[in-house]
Amino acid sequence: MNKQFGNDDEALAQWVLDTYQPEDDILREIRTRSTREKLPDIQLAALDARHLEVLARAARARRAVEIGTLGGYSGVSILRGMEADGVLDTIELEPRHAEVARESFRRAGFGARARVHVGRALEVLPKLAASGPFDLCFIDADKESYAAYVAWAGDNLRPGGLVIADNSFLFGHLPEAPTGERAEAIKAMQAMHRDLARGGKFRATVLPTGEGLAVGARV
Ligand SMILES: C[S@@+](CC[C@H](N)C(=O)[O-])C[C@H]1O[C@@H](n2cnc3c(N)ncnc32)[C@H](O)[C@@H]1O
Repeated sequence: MNKQFGNDDEALAQWVLDTYQPEDDILREIRTRSTREKLPDIQLAALDARHLEVLARAARARRAVEIGTLGGYSGVSILRGMEADGVLDTIELEPRHAEVARESFRRAGFGARARVHVGRALEVLPKLAASGPFDLCFIDADKESYAAYVAWAGDNLRPGGLVIADNSFLFGHLPEAPTGERAEAIKAMQAMHRDLARGGKFRATVLPTGEGLAVGARV
């Protein structure tokens, strides 16, 4: 039997949330302060943030890169899974978001281990390359650049290092023909999946979370 891809069972999802309790007081405070500071309400779902923490722990990550910081919700989760001396380089286009994130890292006790870079990720990433190779790269920003971000990860992760991309179902638009206002995003997301699946640099899969969490291990 082919099991369903994902599920929409609310009772089951609630049971998992009640049991694993992925959002503690620190993450809740980041989420509510981000809303108060008028940041868009687009941080990871709590259980997806826990996925990141567990993946960072499994990779024994000491050097990680995040693309798309927002208020620091996912960044704190990655840092929680990293080794005690691990450092996260996180890139954010909006200076206001970066300011809120710096406060989040400070409050979570990661002030010295989070470097927030303000700028366009495609311009910041080449400057980070010299301090690689990295153990983990998390992608959660402009969808039109996902293929380029995964290409960067392929060149800058150590063997066994993880690339993780959120929203990889592109809000349900992934299988569509690339036309209209989403054309560039659809093209980039499809190219990213093809590269992960068949590009030769990763052994990859897609975890069927609500958003589709693509995960590739560098071979
Ligand atoms: C979905 S949010 C990130 C959420 C965050 N990862 C979390 O879960 O807490 C996307 C972020 O990427 C930023 N962003 C968009 N385009 C970017 C780019 N080209 N370079 C860097 N950051 C970008 C946005 O300003 C926004 O803060």
